[in-house]
Amino acid sequence: MTAPKNVRISRREGFNAAHQLRDASLSEDENRRLYGKCVNLHGHNYAVEVVVSGAIDPSTGYVMDLKRLSDLVTAEIIQHVDHRNLNTDVAWLHGQIPTAENLALAFWGRLRPHLPQGSLRRVRVHETEKNWAECSGDG
Ligand code: NI
Repeated sequence: MTAPKNVRISRREGFNAAHQLRDASLSEDENRRLYGKCVNLHGHNYAVEVVVSGAIDPSTGYVMDLKRLSDLVTAEIIQHVDHRNLNTDVAWLHGQIPTAENLALAFWGRLRPHLPQGSLRRVRVHETEKNWAECSGDG
């Protein structure tokens, strides 16, 4: 059996933000039926967990410096969403209902262009201790 070629690394960052689950094209009753009490503005202590895969650079022993990954997640995501209202305050989330699913996809789109082709493997958004959503890619 040969050794695996790639190793996965992960970084987790937290942020606090407010949101409400509400579709502007629906009535109040329809929104309440779909989203329950989540139609009301409320907050979460979110965490975003990013997994990157690659070969170990023999000169550093790293796949990628986790400080660099932390800085990237902070610059591309955390600084935009921390202590914000996700429905109104973040230009690149406009027009989306800020579910954990939609956040995971949007965060993926923020990070992907800044990482080597195929190295971004997973973006997981923890909305509560019990709920998360993630997207993952090949490569
Ligand atoms: Ni919520």
